[in-house]
Amino acid sequence: MNELQFKRHRRLRQSANMRALVRETILNVNDFIYPIFAVEGENIKQEVSSMPGVYQFSLDRLQEEMDEVVSLGIKSVLLFGIPDHKDAVGTEAYHSHGIVQEATRFIKQHYPDVLVVADTCLCEYTDHGHCGVIEGEKVLNDASLDLLVKTAVSQAEAGADIIAPSNMMDGFVVAIRKGLDEAGFEDVPIMSYAVKYASAFYGPFRDAADSAPQFGDRKSYQMDPANRLEALREAESDVEEGADFLIVKPTLSYLDIVRDVRNEFRLPVVGYNVSGEYSLVKAAALNGWVDEKTIVLEMLTSMKRAGCDLIITYFAKDVARWISNSDK
Ligand code: PBG
Repeated sequence: MNELQFKRHRRLRQSANMRALVRETILNVNDFIYPIFAVEGENIKQEVSSMPGVYQFSLDRLQEEMDEVVSLGIKSVLLFGIPDHKDAVGTEAYHSHGIVQEATRFIKQHYPDVLVVADTCLCEYTDHGHCGVIEGEKVLNDASLDLLVKTAVSQAEAGADIIAPSNMMDGFVVAIRKGLDEAGFEDVPIMSYAVKYASAFYGPFRDAADSAPQFGDRKSYQMDPANRLEALREAESDVEEGADFLIVKPTLSYLDIVRDVRNEFRLPVVGYNVSGEYSLVKAAALNGWVDEKTIVLEMLTSMKRAGCDLIITYFAKDVARWISNSDK
């Protein structure tokens, strides 16, 4: 026996099967929610320039995307809409035949088992690009709530299975819960963007959804990336107000927050692996600087290890392919 005393951790790493035996975190296709951008118009399948592999689809082209999603075993999609006209109060967000409402009807009619999660926000629908109504340069809280409630109810009427409010107005969960209940949708859960930072990682999404603010920024309603306790206060309010899921967004730079929220609350925690996190990896992979498959699986595994029960990711289709073919 060696005189040195130390532990032989490598015993459990010596073969692929041994590593598989002790692996603590395993990605499953059920973990993923895939975002889809539905655009008004005909015969459109338009790649988002800053997000290679992500497209805007008009309703008549949505079938090809949905067929692929279903064939890969993905069970939930998160719907965003790009309307054909915008105004100061985001009318198209709560129009009964708005783009998200129609896309929801299409999916529920042709793929009834797929869960439709509707993103509830106004920024894609307002001409100023803010997530609520404005007075001068101020984004009004309570006046915005009324419109968000109308949006959520119209999404539920179209058949949305889950409402996902992303606007960061105070009180949006309780307002939407009450609105849904009064309209008879007490069984429709709310997946709240409970902890949403004012992040530069949303840049490519704003190309995809055409939702960049036309003046100022979102710092008066989205959170300061420097803050950790504030995340717990935000999540606590949403739990009290009746949320069913808690989203932390972005995810990769905020894994400490994911862990805090996972430890503190009992609801399912959802990480949103946002557009900028996708585009950084895509750009490097397209240049041959990183190995895309390995790095994406490592990133998503880290998110799950940090405490994400579910992950919203533009990589969902790729991952579904990779893990079904994996020889691990
Ligand atoms: C709408 C919304 C945004 C994202 C999801 N919902 C943009 C924003 O807040 O500016 C970002 C998603 C992503 O970057 O992938 N408020």
